Amino acid sequence: MKIMEIEGARELSGTIRISGAKNATVALIPAAILTDEEATICNIPEITDTDALCDILEALNVEVKRASESIIINPKNMKNIEIEEQYSKKLRASYYFMGALLGKYHKASMYFPGGCSIGARPIDLHLKGFESLGATVTNEGNKYIVEAEELHGANIYLDIASVGATINIMLAAVRAKGRTVIDNAAKEPEIVNVATFLNNMGAKISGAGTSTIKIDGVDHLHKCFHEVIPDRIEAGTYIIIGALCGNMLKIDNVIPDHIDALLSKLEEMGVELEIGADYVIVSKKDKYKATDIKTAVFPGFATDLQQPFTVLQTQATGKSKTTETIWENRFMHISYLRELGADITVKNQTATIIGPTKLKGAEVVATDLRAGAAMVAAGLTAEGKTTITNVEHILRGYEQIVEKLTNVGAKINLKEI
Ligand code: EPZ
Repeated sequence: MKIMEIEGARELSGTIRISGAKNATVALIPAAILTDEEATICNIPEITDTDALCDILEALNVEVKRASESIIINPKNMKNIEIEEQYSKKLRASYYFMGALLGKYHKASMYFPGGCSIGARPIDLHLKGFESLGATVTNEGNKYIVEAEELHGANIYLDIASVGATINIMLAAVRAKGRTVIDNAAKEPEIVNVATFLNNMGAKISGAGTSTIKIDGVDHLHKCFHEVIPDRIEAGTYIIIGALCGNMLKIDNVIPDHIDALLSKLEEMGVELEIGADYVIVSKKDKYKATDIKTAVFPGFATDLQQPFTVLQTQATGKSKTTETIWENRFMHISYLRELGADITVKNQTATIIGPTKLKGAEVVATDLRAGAAMVAAGLTAEGKTTITNVEHILRGYEQIVEKLTNVGAKINLKEI
């Protein structure tokens, strides 16, 4: 088991470079099997979710070559065999193999995906979408077999603008016969990145980034080269850390438009930001104004930044509120923030934070990926030593987090115990 130890209350300055987006990468890797030719994807983050998807590719006899920050995927000799539970349960995004395998072979057999325990996380909208395209779904316990004689285009309305369902349906539809229209599609930048990748391979997708996506099926997809967009959640996390402990901390390789909601909320709190074309510079200020946030689908305030943002709310003067609307169980970090001295109460889906409070180091748990990021932000802010257990969650999504923070002056280390 790995733990993280942080000696907090140190000033951070210098530059942190943002890696490729986890939530784009985890869809791009399964998407690459839709062709029989080689796909080269660069700016791939070295995180354990990437490793887990490469393990699935190898289990399917796909050739994978990894060099620093890039990956070459060659499915020429691929075999469409069942994806075992030990692989699918390692991460949520294993479910993108359902759409990709269905699109390519008209059959996918795999187990329910894993991932952070932040809610029930059903996949009904994915499955309904596959059914609309002509597939039948058989469910035996935890196992799902999705198959079709032929996939045909369909008009699909998503009851919820789900990121996963939008991408999965897109993956299945790119090789279906005819036109598929996804209405109430999710608009997250990662969806645009995946659509661009598929179009680079010869797919015909338009409207990605809006709530109506049109996909005209094609018979063949070809080799391509693609670049992963910068990770807006990693960027947002470090910008929040900068507001807590930074002295001219530069967060580089950022697309500011992707984090508009966060930047506006930070400005509302009184955080001083220099926003460049592809960077943000942020310093800690002595006083922040209490500010409320409510999570929403893109371009709203990202649920994945809600947990780190709560840490900043503990440093604001007065009463702040955070309302979580996407996930039922995304307040698990709160009890650990209380251990560090925060004054927070939770009622239903709203946390009320009274600040400012001086945080003091304690032993805490990374209950999920972004709760873990919140613990890191809190540990860097707190006086004394914070020890975080279950850090495997953090390493699933933040590339070289210890090195990046050490380079800007943090005292943080990872220990195997
Ligand atoms: C993606 O999850 C991200 N994960 C999540 O990031 C992120 O929190 C989420 O989108 C929302 O932005 C990946 O991209 C791998 P959804 P996803 O389908 O696709 C309900 C992180 O920390 N729903 O948009 O699983 C669902 O329960 C992770 O990096 C259904 O009811 O999210 C939720 O309430 C955590 N039925 C809402 O929709 C379905 O079939 C949005 O979920 C699908 C979803």
